[in-house]
Amino acid sequence: MNVIVSPEEMKRFSQACRDSGKRIGLVATMGSLHEGHLSLARSSLSECDVTVVSVFVNPCQFCPGEDLEKYPRDMEKDRALLEKEGVDVLFAPDESEMYPGGYSTFVEVKGPVSEALCGASRPGHFSGVSTVVAKLFNITSPHISYFGRKDAQQAAVIIRMVRDLDIDVDIRVMPVVRESDGLAMSSRNNYLSEEERGRASVVYRALEKGRKMAVSGETKAGKILEKVKDVIMTEKGISIDYVEMVDSLEMTPLEKLETRALIAVAVRIGQTRLIDNVIIDAPNQGGKN
Ligand code: PAF
Repeated sequence: MNVIVSPEEMKRFSQACRDSGKRIGLVATMGSLHEGHLSLARSSLSECDVTVVSVFVNPCQFCPGEDLEKYPRDMEKDRALLEKEGVDVLFAPDESEMYPGGYSTFVEVKGPVSEALCGASRPGHFSGVSTVVAKLFNITSPHISYFGRKDAQQAAVIIRMVRDLDIDVDIRVMPVVRESDGLAMSSRNNYLSEEERGRASVVYRALEKGRKMAVSGETKAGKILEKVKDVIMTEKGISIDYVEMVDSLEMTPLEKLETRALIAVAVRIGQTRLIDNVIIDAPNQGGKN
């Protein structure tokens, strides 16, 4: 596996791939890789000629007081995992190369897609994400870029940015990868104590309850969300940041299940903030949107 740290070298490499007609797949990550990331890499490996995985803990998507300092970092382990998968390039730039002195340009996707849900609790977060992803697209020139649906709002923001800025890349949003008890895989799961980890699976049980109500014909968001909250509150020591039903691309709240919807949840377990969601097609909408 080729390890590239310099954005200039990465650009040259990508250009050479494009010149020789190779299709490039990008999986953007902040490292501390788990099965969720590796499944994205596998999708790229199966579809593209060259797979680039970037590992960069992006400071500008962390709000003041968040976990930037303690965010798990283990480059050697990440490198070994990617090597084993057969990834072609690990792109691991330094912060000073991504944001050199005087750096002052930020991409901001406006409106509910970035301001609702996590955007409300983490002001500035999605501007940091859009900025770094736009830079990664410019540096690696991917034909396809893969994102996980666990971060459904992030994916919606990126889809919007790509559309609005005419960026020539296909975005693939891949299913949530879960632990055996349903907990969505996340690098932040590392923060949970054993006891908290045991309780965390309630989030998936609650979402599944909501999904099943919808599949059985309940269309009122209020009723579904009340049940989801009730199930979450059966575990102690969990506080709810939000439980919402939203349009899956707009992130606008829905009162009734009318479009492809997400039931999206953010909770805090101890000091750890976890997000998760399930996707639901409205009756007679199957697969649209
Ligand atoms: O999902 C993540 O890990 C990050 O938000 C991303 C897309 C790599 C941007 O830093």
